[in-house]
Amino acid sequence: MANNRDNLILITKNITKRFGGVIALDKVSLVVSRRSITLLIGPNGAGKTTFVNVCTGVFKPDEGKIIFEARDITGWPPYKVYSIGLARSFQIPQPFRSLTVLDNVLVAMKSPGEDPIRALFKGSWIRREEENIKKAFKILELVGLENYWDWEAYKLGAGQLKMLEVARSIASGAKLLALDEPIGGTDPRYSSYIFEQLQSIRKELDISFLVIEHRIDVALKYADMVYVMDRGRVIAEGSPNEILKNPKVAEVYLG
Ligand SMILES: Nc1ncnc2c1ncn2[C@@H]1O[C@H](COP(=O)(O)OP(=O)(O)O)[C@@H](O)[C@H]1O
Ligand SMILES: [Mg+2]
Repeated sequence: MANNRDNLILITKNITKRFGGVIALDKVSLVVSRRSITLLIGPNGAGKTTFVNVCTGVFKPDEGKIIFEARDITGWPPYKVYSIGLARSFQIPQPFRSLTVLDNVLVAMKSPGEDPIRALFKGSWIRREEENIKKAFKILELVGLENYWDWEAYKLGAGQLKMLEVARSIASGAKLLALDEPIGGTDPRYSSYIFEQLQSIRKELDISFLVIEHRIDVALKYADMVYVMDRGRVIAEGSPNEILKNPKVAEVYLG
């Protein structure tokens, strides 16, 4: 299965990105399998955020290729990358603070490919709205926010806001979500809860997560595959167990 390209949602080959004299990414090659939680870890300055920025079109790579869903998306602008299902956490508009949780999910849903005025005349608009509400509740259940559906977003806690962001990107049709330090700013118990939610989401839906963390204590428990970066390079890759046993990883983390 591991070598079956159909099972891979994202493939990057030898991505290099320089900022002036700084080589932020030095031939980074990695793959993300479908329905996986793939973890990208490494100390501050390793190049993790830059990698996600290059994959999502924020920066163009100097060299290398990005293949998403079997399409070469190298150099595509962010809106186009987003439109085919590669989303990153801050690329999704921040929740509308005064809207309810449910409305936040509803507005994130892609507009139906039909002229809304015509749809209204045919009476199908109401049916579609009902379908969307059902779908939105299903998504809210998946992220554990169903009991908060009528709360205004500004009343949510930091961790719940992150899950609302995840819900909104699922609603928008994302197939791969890049989450840059999703547990930052949440307490350790809630951090585990966030990862548990991600695990149940990818089991339920055909969605993959590329999670960036520099804290590895919580994240490693929930990952299927781990890449370790240091100074722009992938220095180790493997299962969480393999990573824990890798002396290079210990060196990077413990100095
Ligand atoms: N927009 C930028 N302009 C110049 N240098 C940058 C920029 N973004 C990142 N860098 C540099 O690239 C390197 C990798 O940074 P970054 O990707 O943010 O690392 P990480 O997310 O792993 O902490 C660092 O040396 C950083 O200073
Ligand atoms: Mg970063």
